Amino acid sequence: MNKWDKLIKKDAEFYTYANNVIDYWLSGEEHYNQFIKNDEVLKNHLGSFSDKTCLDYGCGIGRITKFIANDFKKVFGLDISEEAIKLAKQNVTNENVKFIKADLRKKLDIKADLIFSSMVLQHLTKDEQKKILGGLKNLLKNNGIVKIQVRGREIDKYQWYSGDCISVNEVVETTGLKLIKSEYTTPKELWIWLKK
Ligand SMILES: C[S@@+](CC[C@H](N)C(=O)[O-])C[C@H]1O[C@@H](n2cnc3c(N)ncnc32)[C@H](O)[C@@H]1O
Repeated sequence: MNKWDKLIKKDAEFYTYANNVIDYWLSGEEHYNQFIKNDEVLKNHLGSFSDKTCLDYGCGIGRITKFIANDFKKVFGLDISEEAIKLAKQNVTNENVKFIKADLRKKLDIKADLIFSSMVLQHLTKDEQKKILGGLKNLLKNNGIVKIQVRGREIDKYQWYSGDCISVNEVVETTGLKLIKSEYTTPKELWIWLKK
């Protein structure tokens, strides 16, 4: 049982985002709308989502995956925690969603139009992040796009932001992808858009 399995067994919603179940799903819908559905870069780049595949990288128990599934043709939710995947399968039962237990630091055999990741890399060391980032290009379809969130400015290092900061340049260099845009949504959260 890894660290995330233990936390998720203890209190799944709390350790993957919110204090209670209601806030958990409300935040999932809000973040889906904010970070995917109403994102002009994604809309311009991908056009309609209805024929596209999305990979939710470090999906937890399905907080955002649930809402991605309503708009995308196919969704893969990947997470290192067996507990998370077990609960995600109970929480999100849409036929177009497949949850897979996977360590993102290892090679995967999936291709997606959108690779999305929220609140995952901020927990990891720079070396771990680089292993994950180095594998993104192979997972991306030719006209695909990556939108990932990393830890923002070096402030408030505490439980939820315990990983290392990584610069936009380092992300671009490690992925071998082209930078479209980067933006702080809060000082702690830096979002990066990349394409092939
Ligand atoms: C705070 S939760 C965020 C979950 C989800 N992305 C969300 O926004 O609700 C972080 C998740 O990242 C997963 N995770 C951490 N390291 C990972 C790795 N190396 N590979 C895959 N998943 C990982 C954890 O198991 C956990 O479910």
